[in-house]
Amino acid sequence: MLELGIKPEEIPSPWEELDLSEISGTLMIVGSSDVGKSTFSRYLFKRLCSIYPRVAYLDGDMGQSTLGPPSTMTLAMAAKGDDTFPPRGPKWRAFVGSVSPVGNMLAVITCAARLLEAARKAEAQVVIHDTTGLVEPARGGIHLKLAKIDLLRPKVLFALQRYQELKTLLLPLRRRRRILVLEFSPSPAAQQRDTSVRKAHRAAQFAQYFTNSSQLRVNWTQFAVLPAPQFNLHRLVALEDADGFTIGLGIVEQIDRIYRQVILYTPVDKLDGVDVIRLGDLLVDPLTFEDRPLNA
Ligand SMILES: Nc1ncnc2c1ncn2[C@@H]1O[C@H](COP(=O)(O)OP(=O)(O)O)[C@@H](O)[C@H]1O
Ligand SMILES: [Mg+2]
Repeated sequence: MLELGIKPEEIPSPWEELDLSEISGTLMIVGSSDVGKSTFSRYLFKRLCSIYPRVAYLDGDMGQSTLGPPSTMTLAMAAKGDDTFPPRGPKWRAFVGSVSPVGNMLAVITCAARLLEAARKAEAQVVIHDTTGLVEPARGGIHLKLAKIDLLRPKVLFALQRYQELKTLLLPLRRRRRILVLEFSPSPAAQQRDTSVRKAHRAAQFAQYFTNSSQLRVNWTQFAVLPAPQFNLHRLVALEDADGFTIGLGIVEQIDRIYRQVILYTPVDKLDGVDVIRLGDLLVDPLTFEDRPLNA
């Protein structure tokens, strides 16, 4: 299981002992940063692919994303009979517009709901929803997780906690009838990554996404620009289709306010199907691909 990112002998025994035969529907994986959520999610994906023909993976961490560029969430379906990760089936993407849920929780909820709807339409039998590490009550983590649970109605919540950092969140959930809470301790081998490692991971993900990009001229009066056409140099934007899914991202390289045009650096080569241009809350350097908040 090389794609897991850990060696087979590093798979914790509580993971291996999990009985997944009765597990289906939406599964949400929660926990603080670096407790092994994404590793566990990939492990679940592999195992569930051997049970169900239609498994979906919803990468809901727009900061340390695994399936797409930072600032987005991606839903990917496993191809039939194929447990390869990243999944090789159909994909949908939604733009959160920032690399942290703090200050963007409505977008986080909207994107997750939209992608989950795509999974339902694709008749996924199980959806593995990996999430961000924002769980601190003081930063809105509990409100975010509870709102997500209320809206997305996961059948199972897999909770990974080191100390008691999920206590406040889990206490009421354990008493709820329609959700099963399964708790794990992180593997001692799970490694903490500091801010610079996280930043470098994002830059690498952006760099990979923008390979084979070129300049695309956009007359913005032809589209709905959300929230408003206030373009900034190097601002990250998304080109969205009529259903709100991301066609592609772009970095603003030139702005012509008289003719109301921008030049985007983007892997998208034509504007067919574009309905909305959505402006993100971050700037991405088109050479280094490092990001910084718009309002720093
Ligand atoms: N069971 C494990 N054994 C060894 N290393 C692990 C295990 N779980 C996670 N890791 C490592 O710890 C780091 C953080 O794990 P990750 O799954 O990305 O955490 P999270 O998604 O919660 O931030 C990664 O480098 C990962 O390879
Ligand atoms: Mg993760």
